Amino acid sequence: SRPKVLITRPDIPISGLILLQEQCDIIQWEKPEPIPRSALLSKIQNVDGVYCLLTDKIDDEVLNAAGSQLKVVSTMSVGVDHLDLKALKNRNIKVGYTPGILTDATAELTVALLLATSRRLIEANRAIYKGEWKAWSPTWMCGPRLSGSVVGIIGLGRIGSQVAKNLKSFNVAKILYTSRCVKEEASEFGGEKVEFDELLQKSDFVIVTTALTPETRLMFNQSAFEKMKKSAIFINVSRGEVVDQFALIEALKKGTIRGAGLDVMTPEPIPLDSELLKLDNCVILPHIGSAATETRDEMSIITARNILAVLKGTPDQMPVPLEL
Ligand code: GLV
Ligand code: GLV
Repeated sequence: SRPKVLITRPDIPISGLILLQEQCDIIQWEKPEPIPRSALLSKIQNVDGVYCLLTDKIDDEVLNAAGSQLKVVSTMSVGVDHLDLKALKNRNIKVGYTPGILTDATAELTVALLLATSRRLIEANRAIYKGEWKAWSPTWMCGPRLSGSVVGIIGLGRIGSQVAKNLKSFNVAKILYTSRCVKEEASEFGGEKVEFDELLQKSDFVIVTTALTPETRLMFNQSAFEKMKKSAIFINVSRGEVVDQFALIEALKKGTIRGAGLDVMTPEPIPLDSELLKLDNCVILPHIGSAATETRDEMSIITARNILAVLKGTPDQMPVPLEL
């Protein structure tokens, strides 16, 4: 008989949807907003697999509601912090995610965000419409140069390494990184592993690509921002919860650091009255790191395949997320 699969959003890329429709009966949340908790708790009953997104919190309560036939939870994301991995493991439910495939798209967005922040692209563009561009001007809209700078990467995983490789072609002087262990691939870009504090003190650009874990939650607090250079640019493409956002806002207001570029924040979406939106030295994007058309197609296919692998065989071919 055909397994039942819950898909928590209507607008997933069609390529993954088709794969699932061929072999499974689909229950799909039909509204464009994230599935409300109450609907998730009821729709997950009796399904064998779930295709979810990073906006869906899958915890004990949800798994209790699901029933014992649930065999796989597959998220269309590389981040798995919205999944209670222990609770899933305890129930022997397999976890699918999409590492690797979104590395290039996220790394290129990271470079775009970094340059948009340092070279003040959004602010400069807005200045035109406000009638503030009077003439080419020797000192107007200047920002720090990437070439010759020291770049620090927090968490040198797949995405962090690719960011480093991309930045090397901008002639950066040095790349520092923090990581649990020395990374072999760092030799490709001359990356040097340092302690967190040293990275903060020496970097002109601090880029966060680490996974959200109990150790990285709120690691960028007031004390961290105070250790950074006054001229530093802070870039976050991982998860908003890595940052004490109140401390970041204070640091940007007081000039503790020069600027910030954020693809992630708390909460998401950011309320329109947030202080963050009032700061000229902060560039904010709506969590679009992996939003390259081809990448989202591939993510959808892998998310679907991870479900089929478990429900139709071959689960050992799936990558297993690191325990958080
Ligand atoms: C995006 O943030 C992802 O985890 O894929
Ligand atoms: C800038 O447009 C220059 O010519 O220096």
